[in-house]
Amino acid sequence: MTKIDRPRRSALYLPASNAKAIAKARTLPADIVILDLEDAVAPDAKVEARAAAVAALDEGGFGGREVAIRANGLDTEWGADDLAAIAGSKADAVLVPKVSSASDIDRYQSALADAPAAMQLWAMIETCSGVFALDAMAARAADTRLSLWVMGTNDLAKEMRARLTPDRTPFLPFLSMAVAAARAHGIAILDGVCNEFRDLDIFRAEAEQGLLFGFDGKSLIHPAQIDPCNEVFSPSEADVAWARAVIEAFALPENAGKGAIRVEGKMAELLHLDQARRLVAVAETIAAG
Ligand code: COA
Ligand code: MG
Repeated sequence: MTKIDRPRRSALYLPASNAKAIAKARTLPADIVILDLEDAVAPDAKVEARAAAVAALDEGGFGGREVAIRANGLDTEWGADDLAAIAGSKADAVLVPKVSSASDIDRYQSALADAPAAMQLWAMIETCSGVFALDAMAARAADTRLSLWVMGTNDLAKEMRARLTPDRTPFLPFLSMAVAAARAHGIAILDGVCNEFRDLDIFRAEAEQGLLFGFDGKSLIHPAQIDPCNEVFSPSEADVAWARAVIEAFALPENAGKGAIRVEGKMAELLHLDQARRLVAVAETIAAG
């Protein structure tokens, strides 16, 4: 599957120390599963969680889902051992926390020197200094494993001493800047988590805000959030129908060589054709399950 059409609507975190949650994740419709060794795991359980995450991947059973392991930072006592264990595991990606500069990306890249070529490096955007290094960090995607970012809005709120309200007003500039930096360098980007896992109306509004901002999908903390998240981030039937109409119209002989045409009473340009092709590819991949 190419980078462009792989659906990344929903990414469910779970503590790798929670065997029950791991078993459950194999049956849930999340596009991505993130086995966490970091914030969701208490210090005393870190070493055991690391072994459990590697063992879960050896055991398999995750189907077509991408599975990532979130490591502790290299500046913690567990980081280097986490990276070494993940590099030797069957994970699709390692998610690293609190990156704040291009040299941080390079440090993680070096720590993965012995990992399989296909293993991706994903990074959390969750520090105040990281916000000012977005472009420089994303630019490292050109010659590293870096391929995806995840917003860490809880850590950003903590560092900024800002309030993480449902409208997320204090964070909106960072969300747009992060999406723009990711797109500038061709990497995917997932929105932060919604802590309100019992209130799916709040969740849905936040997911829709993330869609509006251009995120590929959203990171999640609870199984109940998966269905509404997949719904929000799947192309709607109307969107797919419009995209097909644009593709068909541009294929007509009378429109050959044109940059802008009329489709169902609206203007469509070649840029819309690109968007339409991507949308149809994503929709077809989702439909194929
Ligand atoms: N992944 C997989 N399964 C999960 C899950 C998750 N993230 N969160 C809950 N479940 C399971 C529970 O094990 C339980 O399974 P069961 O019915 O077989 O017993 C079921 O879903 C219902 O859980 P519920 O009682 O509603 O939640 P809880 O009170 O047990 O747990 C949290 C609430 C927030 C502690 C839990 O959802 C969690 O640990 N989430 C992930 C936290 C995390 O990884 N954070 C790091 C990134 S921010
Ligand atoms: Mg964090």
